[in-house]
Amino acid sequence: RLPERVSIYEVSPRDGLQNEKVTVSTPDKIRLIDALAQAGLQRIEITSFVSPKWIPQLADADELAGHIKPPPGVTFSALCPNPKGLSRAKAAGLEEIAVFLSASETHNKKNINKTIDETLLEFEETVPPARAAGMRVRGYVSTVWGCPYEGEVEIERSHAIAMRLIELGCYQVSLGDTIGCGTPRQTARILDRMLKDIPAPKIAMHMHDTRGTALANILVGLGIGIRDFDASVGGLGGCPYAPGAAGNMATEDLVYMLHGMGIETGIDLEKLVWAGKAAESIVGRPLPGKVHQSGVRS
Ligand code: HMG
Ligand code: MG
Repeated sequence: RLPERVSIYEVSPRDGLQNEKVTVSTPDKIRLIDALAQAGLQRIEITSFVSPKWIPQLADADELAGHIKPPPGVTFSALCPNPKGLSRAKAAGLEEIAVFLSASETHNKKNINKTIDETLLEFEETVPPARAAGMRVRGYVSTVWGCPYEGEVEIERSHAIAMRLIELGCYQVSLGDTIGCGTPRQTARILDRMLKDIPAPKIAMHMHDTRGTALANILVGLGIGIRDFDASVGGLGGCPYAPGAAGNMATEDLVYMLHGMGIETGIDLEKLVWAGKAAESIVGRPLPGKVHQSGVRS
């Protein structure tokens, strides 16, 4: 049975911009975030409080997050890898953060320079204090569908990490197909395993669309009961520490499909297409999203 409504978590200002070659100015980022909120997106990941040496594109996180306030009904979130990230997020007045790690050791080490166990210990010093400060915390598990360094990743590893994130106090865990290698039967296996122990509203899907399978995997998730999907306008995105990782599921393509199926998102697709055009002009290169290129109707 398909849901009547789903929630889209927009990651373009963070996942979308972290991998871009051109330096995007803070006012341009604000313009993009405004356009996304105006299109009806209610959950937007606006930046990362990570090391500026590791992700120079988001070095303006404090300035950006400190200057913009979410309109009523909208939540802004940002990646935080550790307590230092949390204190920056607090200082900027954010009400939500997202912690992140991988299900494969090699990607975790290359991305955040720690083992999985060390990262989880660091999260013990990050997630409960954020909750105590009244913030909501989301968690990401990357490389669930496959790792660029280790290949296949055991579902049990991803499952154990997802369970730990929830125990620590994350309200939702977003499962990442970081390099966009997943296929539908695999998606069903992964989600069936997760749903044995984790209720559907606590699981989201974060699908990169490297090989064109993101929408097919999301359709499987919808059918199994998942109601939360991450997406990036125009299909912007990729992890700089995952070679070959291309853009995320394009928000316009996802919304087009959902609306066509009679599933509500609260998003105005025409306005979303305009937000995608803003993103394209900001990064100065053509974006891969299909509806972004075709328009809603020709
Ligand atoms: P490190 O170098 O191991 O950290 O980096 P450290 O603790 O040894 O500290 C080194 C320096 O970094 C120190 O500064 C710290 O103060 C500073 P120095 O003394 O050298 O001047 N530092 C920080 N600065 C600002 N904010 C902080 C912070 N923490 C330490 N929070 C660290 C460890 C985690 C910081 C680093 O590896 C890092 O920033 N990695 C970020 C990687 C990243 O953002 N990757 C992309 C996002 S993940 C993704 O895209 C996947 C996802 O989309 C899901 C999916 O697709 O699967 C979420
Ligand atoms: Mg990602």
